[in-house]
Amino acid sequence: MIRIWNTVADWRERRRTLAGRSIGFVPTMGALHRGHASLVERCRQENEIVVVSIFVNPTQFNDPKDLRRYPRTLDSDLALLESLQADDILVPNSSDLYPNVDRFRVEPDDSSRTMEGAFRPGYLQGVLTVVLKLLNIVEPDRTYFGEKDYQQLKVITDMVHEFFLSTKIVPCPTVRDNLGLAESSRNALLSAEYRKKAAQLFRVLKTAADPTEARTILEAEGFAVEYIEERWGRRLVAASLEGVRLIDNIPMGTCASHT
Ligand code: PAJ
Repeated sequence: MIRIWNTVADWRERRRTLAGRSIGFVPTMGALHRGHASLVERCRQENEIVVVSIFVNPTQFNDPKDLRRYPRTLDSDLALLESLQADDILVPNSSDLYPNVDRFRVEPDDSSRTMEGAFRPGYLQGVLTVVLKLLNIVEPDRTYFGEKDYQQLKVITDMVHEFFLSTKIVPCPTVRDNLGLAESSRNALLSAEYRKKAAQLFRVLKTAADPTEARTILEAEGFAVEYIEERWGRRLVAASLEGVRLIDNIPMGTCASHT
């Protein structure tokens, strides 16, 4: 039976009853798709109790318009989580998670001011802050994150290490549609025609000789490219299409130029 918790206090009471069981945790912002489902499935296989949070975290949105139009589909999210046999769903209010609004923040150092850290000021701080709160509330043994948001996965892994948090971070591979487009809650904002075009992002990441060539091709296709960089053995990109911001990354070993 799926249980939904709207307050931190109620969840913590339930958490006390789970002492001694292995707890897996999947933090999300809802608008769930096959990418999220793959994390929940993996979590189901590896833990006795599966906890999922759904919280559209305001502090990680640097653009208020992006926050306003972020898709919210709670009823279908809960139906999906029930079918995946999740146990506990946290759907907290902003005022419960941020009782003092924005008084404290986790601040990564200057090495994070690249890529997402450069183009979305405040985003990584917002993510780290909410993830630290959620990890302290849920107290999971394992926490599942997608490789699709690779820089996010990296800074969270580093924070868990630096702050001696006891959860294990489990990276999960990117789930794509049949054209190669990485599943994302924002894909729902694309028209059918542009959704097809968006799959070029993955194709060009794979086939371009280097980031400069990838940028030229994508811009000619109508993408507004923010960055294409090679780091951590991966090629990473952020670009907008029809005003919808998309990110993706692949291991360098799968780029045509490196095989
Ligand atoms: P959200 O975008 O909802 O993503 C939740 C988790 O699902 C993240 O770990 C993300 O990397 C993973 N994910 C998204 N699309 C995926 C795909 N196509 N394949 C595999 N995994 C995928 O990321 C966030 O929420 C927030 O920043 C959060 C960590 C919850 C903090 O607010």
